[in-house]
Amino acid sequence: MKEIVKQVSKDLEISSGEAELIVASLLEKPRFGIYFNNKLDMETKKILNMKLIELKNGVPIEYITKKVQFLNFLLCIYPGVFIPRLETEYFIEMIEKFTNFCPEKILEIGTGAGAICIALATIFPKAKIIATDISQNAIDCALENIERYNLTEQIHLLHCNMFEGLSGKFDMIVSNPPYIPHSRLKSLPKSVKHFEPILAINGGEGGIQFIKRLILQGKDYLNPGGQIAIEIDETEVKILQKFFETNISTPFYFKKDLFGRFRYLFIGNCKVLDSE
Ligand SMILES: C[S@@+](CC[C@H](N)C(=O)[O-])C[C@H]1O[C@@H](n2cnc3c(N)ncnc32)[C@H](O)[C@@H]1O
Repeated sequence: MKEIVKQVSKDLEISSGEAELIVASLLEKPRFGIYFNNKLDMETKKILNMKLIELKNGVPIEYITKKVQFLNFLLCIYPGVFIPRLETEYFIEMIEKFTNFCPEKILEIGTGAGAICIALATIFPKAKIIATDISQNAIDCALENIERYNLTEQIHLLHCNMFEGLSGKFDMIVSNPPYIPHSRLKSLPKSVKHFEPILAINGGEGGIQFIKRLILQGKDYLNPGGQIAIEIDETEVKILQKFFETNISTPFYFKKDLFGRFRYLFIGNCKVLDSE
């Protein structure tokens, strides 16, 4: 096993500790479990080699193991579905921190694997949630995750484009939309641009085409005293500020992520802390 770890470390140009974690994850064993009873049969060796080749070709490990950890949730994930990110885990924390009411009806636009709606369902257990996505792959994956956490009563999935087919109003509208500016798509890491769905990433010109629609259409679906929370890219703050000045009279707040970058936009009802 030591030889395999050494080879992976060399091939992927990573430390031996990271290589151990990868091999363990591919073999579905605990990190140091790979060194016990470590004789691999031919079939396991063959499968491991195939997975390592995929990894070397840039396939994200989550698509190979078909698993992704999001906060306390172990979610299934498939190629064609956006892999939930650390920034979005923090987005959930920010929503919890800056919401001073208990939403009864929540709408999530662009749910992907269902990470956000599943996390919100546990933070606001009384809320009914509708989560939409334009991708059937995403809806199938989200359904599997929602069933895994027994949340089918609380979360209803809808395969649609933005707000299409929706009626009624919500106390909270949440989205981690496609927000990478079109001009930056080419410079994304290979693992993202070649393997993750472009539909989940491409925010069009300036990165804010989807965000603008979310804000303009979203306000018609929001109850008085409600909140819209959107994950954004830090480069979009100025252009969004301008957009608000000319189009929207509702209060809005940009919030920082763990690294001090403005990555979250809250519109409407949002707790303002003394420390800000
Ligand atoms: C950045 S991903 C976020 C996925 C998930 N919410 C997360 O945070 O991991 C954006 C999602 O929006 C979906 N999407 C893109 N265009 C859409 C549209 N017009 N209507 C609904 N969903 C859309 C994509 O399929 C993708 O799942």
